[in-house]
Amino acid sequence: MLIFTKITELHGYLSQIRAKNKTVGFVPTMGALHEGHVSLIRYSKSTCDYTICSVFVNPTQFNDKSDLDRYPRVPEKDAALLESAYCDALFMPPVAEMYPQNENKASFDFDYLDKILEGESRPGHFNGVAQIVKRFFEIIQPDKAFFGSKDYQQVMIVKALVKQMNSSIEIVACPILRDPDGLAMSSRNTLLNKEERKTAGLIPKVMLQAKQVVESSGIEAAKAFVTKEVAQTQNVKLDYYEICNADTLEILHELKPGIKAVALIAVFVGKIRLIDNIAVG
Ligand code: PAJ
Repeated sequence: MLIFTKITELHGYLSQIRAKNKTVGFVPTMGALHEGHVSLIRYSKSTCDYTICSVFVNPTQFNDKSDLDRYPRVPEKDAALLESAYCDALFMPPVAEMYPQNENKASFDFDYLDKILEGESRPGHFNGVAQIVKRFFEIIQPDKAFFGSKDYQQVMIVKALVKQMNSSIEIVACPILRDPDGLAMSSRNTLLNKEERKTAGLIPKVMLQAKQVVESSGIEAAKAFVTKEVAQTQNVKLDYYEICNADTLEILHELKPGIKAVALIAVFVGKIRLIDNIAVG
C-alpha cells in the first residue's frame, strides 16, 4: 500500500491510474479504524479498480474542542489495518496541507438538512464535513465515494453537496457494522471505559424495542418509551430520538403509508456522544 501525505504526490499517483483508464473508489475517514471502515474498503474494492482511503481528523467539523482533543489517533495501526484489507493507497495529510492559511472559511447552505438532529446539536458540524469532503473530492476526483449509513444524515449532506458541486461522483451508502451486542462500531467506542461500554449496549436494544413500539402504538409512544428507558439508566443522557422520512429527513409524528421511515438517536454515555439509526415501519 502506498502512503501519501502531500497532495502533489497523490496527484502523480492518480494521473498514472487515469492514464490506464481505471476507476477510483474513495473512502474518507478520521482514522482509529475498525471493521466498519474496513467494510467500506471492501465495497470500494468490489466495484472500483483502485481504492484510496483518507485518514484525517478534520478540525473544522468539531464544534466541541475537547471532543477534537480526545479524538483517538493511531496512524500506524490504521495503516496496518488498511494494508491487511488490501487498500491501494492511504492519504494522511497534515492539517496545513488541507487547510492552507486563509482558506479556512467556507459556508454551505443545506437548507433544512443541516438544521435538524446532528446539525442542531452540533452547530457548524456539517459545514465542516462539507468543507473537507468537497476538498477531498476536488483533490481525488473519484468515480465513487463510500460512506457508512451509521452517519445517516452525513450521507444525505454529502449527496446534496455533490449535487451543489454539479459533480458526477457516485455516493454509495453502505450498511452499519455492529459489535456482537448490537452497538454500532465507532472510533469513539474506544473512549468508553468498561462500564460505559457495557451501558452503551442499551442503545441498539432500546432502538429495536422502540421499533416494535412504533409499529404497534405509533411514533409518540415510541419516543416516550425511549425517553423513559434512557432516563432509567445511570450515566446516560438522551440528546435526541426522532423518527424521520428516510428520503427527506423530515421529522414525522405519525407513520404514513408509502413513506419509508428511519429512527435516529444520539446519546451521551458518560462524556462520549454516540449515534445510531434503524429503519422502522
Ligand atoms: P469517520 O467517523 O471516521 O467515519 C468514516 C466513514 O466510516 C463514514 O462514512 C462512517 O459513516 C463510516 N462508518 C463509521 N462507523 C461505521 C459502521 N459501524 N459501519 C459502517 N460504516 C461506518 O464520518 C467521518 O469519519 C467524517 O465525518 C468524514 C466523512 C471522514 C469527514 O471528515
